[in-house]
Amino acid sequence: MARIGASVSDTPPARSSVIPIVALDYPDFASALRLVALLGESCRFYKVGSELFTAAGPDVVVRLREEGCDVFLDLKLHDIPNTVAGAMRRIRDMGVRITTVHASGGRAMIEAAVEAAGAECGVFAVTILTSLDESSFGEVVGGGRADVTTWVLRLAVLASAGGARGIVCSGDEARLVRERFGPNLELLVPGVRLPSESSADQARIVTPEGAVAAGANYLVLGRTITAAANPAAAMQSVLDRLSP
Ligand code: C5P
Repeated sequence: MARIGASVSDTPPARSSVIPIVALDYPDFASALRLVALLGESCRFYKVGSELFTAAGPDVVVRLREEGCDVFLDLKLHDIPNTVAGAMRRIRDMGVRITTVHASGGRAMIEAAVEAAGAECGVFAVTILTSLDESSFGEVVGGGRADVTTWVLRLAVLASAGGARGIVCSGDEARLVRERFGPNLELLVPGVRLPSESSADQARIVTPEGAVAAGANYLVLGRTITAAANPAAAMQSVLDRLSP
């Protein structure tokens, strides 16, 4: 595949402007690279999640970096600190820009992840998955319906104490987290949908402009782009909404 464009990898993400990240949720390398070629300059930051990483391994990260793209490796690690630190060192060595652990792994695990990831790779702590609502998260923690916002804030405190660069939360909680933490925690928001779209398996969704208004630094765009009849047009539509 032809090189897609100049590298942006030496430039850390600006804190003030939101950065869209497209999730390459594909079962194979070729499909992922087809989308990267199709989107060209309109997307320079890609998320590799557990599906693609399980299928294609570190090669996919290396290839995206060679294409001049930044990579968010979303493996949502959750294990004992020593094991997470070992995985983080490999992630760091791949040149990944952003990666994730579950905040519920605890402060020592977050600290170990942050130390092993080094300064160039930002560790974001997942709070409560955007596919969970008060009722389904209530099944996790017991006691009927759970107050998701309270839990997100609690886990944001833990993430901050552990030195995470940011958290992953839905657009529903982003504004409150931004108010509490100011610029000290970056916010990465998945569950983004255009108004015409179905929520699919996501429970706490937000429009691109809604996420920006709530203070998001990064938006994760999944099926909004990958399941669109015309992914390039869908990407342009999101970009138009981000800078009207
Ligand atoms: O297709 P959709 O926009 O729902 O995809 C959302 C992407 O964001 C998926 O790759 C999913 O793994 C990821 N994600 C999420 N919720 C989180 C963290 C990551 O949906 N809390």
